[in-house]
Amino acid sequence: MIVMGIESSCDETGVGIVRRHPDGSCELLADEVASSVAEHARFGGVVPEIASRAHLEAIVPAMRRALSTAGIVAPDALAVTIGPGLAGALLVGVAAAKAYAAAWDIPFYALNHLGGHVAVDTLEHGPMPPCVALLVSGGHTHLLHVEDLSRPLIELGSTVDDAAGEAFDKVARLLGLGYPGGPALDAAAVTGDPAAIAFPRGMTGPRDARHDFSFSGLKTAVARYVEAQHRQGVEELPIPDIAASFQEAVADVLTMKAIRAAQDVGVDTLVLGGGATANTRIRSMAEERCAAAGLTLRIPKPRLCTDNGVMIAALGAHVIGGGAEPSPLSVASDPGLPV
Ligand code: KG4
Ligand code: ZN
Repeated sequence: MIVMGIESSCDETGVGIVRRHPDGSCELLADEVASSVAEHARFGGVVPEIASRAHLEAIVPAMRRALSTAGIVAPDALAVTIGPGLAGALLVGVAAAKAYAAAWDIPFYALNHLGGHVAVDTLEHGPMPPCVALLVSGGHTHLLHVEDLSRPLIELGSTVDDAAGEAFDKVARLLGLGYPGGPALDAAAVTGDPAAIAFPRGMTGPRDARHDFSFSGLKTAVARYVEAQHRQGVEELPIPDIAASFQEAVADVLTMKAIRAAQDVGVDTLVLGGGATANTRIRSMAEERCAAAGLTLRIPKPRLCTDNGVMIAALGAHVIGGGAEPSPLSVASDPGLPV
């Protein structure tokens, strides 16, 4: 069974192909990603109209390249991200997937983007035991309980304001580090002191039934710190110290709450996913704290943490393996699709 996955929820046009083996494991056959990130840079964020047009140009060539790399004429099934994401961007991938599924006369599966970020880990680390997943990207910050990848995921918590990746991007912009800000801020933090400035850790009080996050207070605290420095006549901001202290606060909150959630749910595995889990400090702190808490940590390589088509193909393979019915071709994309 060969599954093609199509992803177009934000600024990456992804087409991935995987082979599902009878034992439930998956093998990666092709991974094509065309990004419009450079076109958004001068606007300091993703411009939906530009993203949609870029998907339109990239989608068919990406599908052709993926088929050629995999050495096949057509897959046995097609899976596509139906939401959450940008409305116009989602439409392009969904329309392409429906058209090709109809033309090839193969089953079509409309899937949740967030599930893809979790499922992609199975390509590197094999079958997934019941676990808690921490998804951190520009658009989402979620803690999820994963009982079985072929069934809907259970949301344990999410951000009540900014996504963590969004906070990275906004703070990086404030510090003049460019867009996308996450990687630039990560690099700037290398020579900084993570204990230089005590930034706040939002929603880390006593244990709560929900495992929600808040990052807007942290973002505001960085802005206030920068304003105070300017008021005091400081000409050169201590960028590495600000970056390292901010990054430390984000990593502290994310890893503390993820471990709490895993303990509350009673699982012994934590899976990380989403673009911001490429962050050096989030990865190293998760490793240190999971080891101390006796949890097994699984993090896909950075290339698979960011948006791609392989994650949707992998989720499709698990959903098909679980015996799900295909979606009707009349299904509509849903920008606000919940977990
Ligand atoms: O998953 P992704 O590619 O797209 C979304 O679905 O949003 O994640 C992109 C986000 C951006 O906010 C970017 O700044 C952040 O991931 N990011 C990072 C790093 N690399 C990417 N944030 C912090 N440190 C990094 N090294
Ligand atoms: Zn994503």
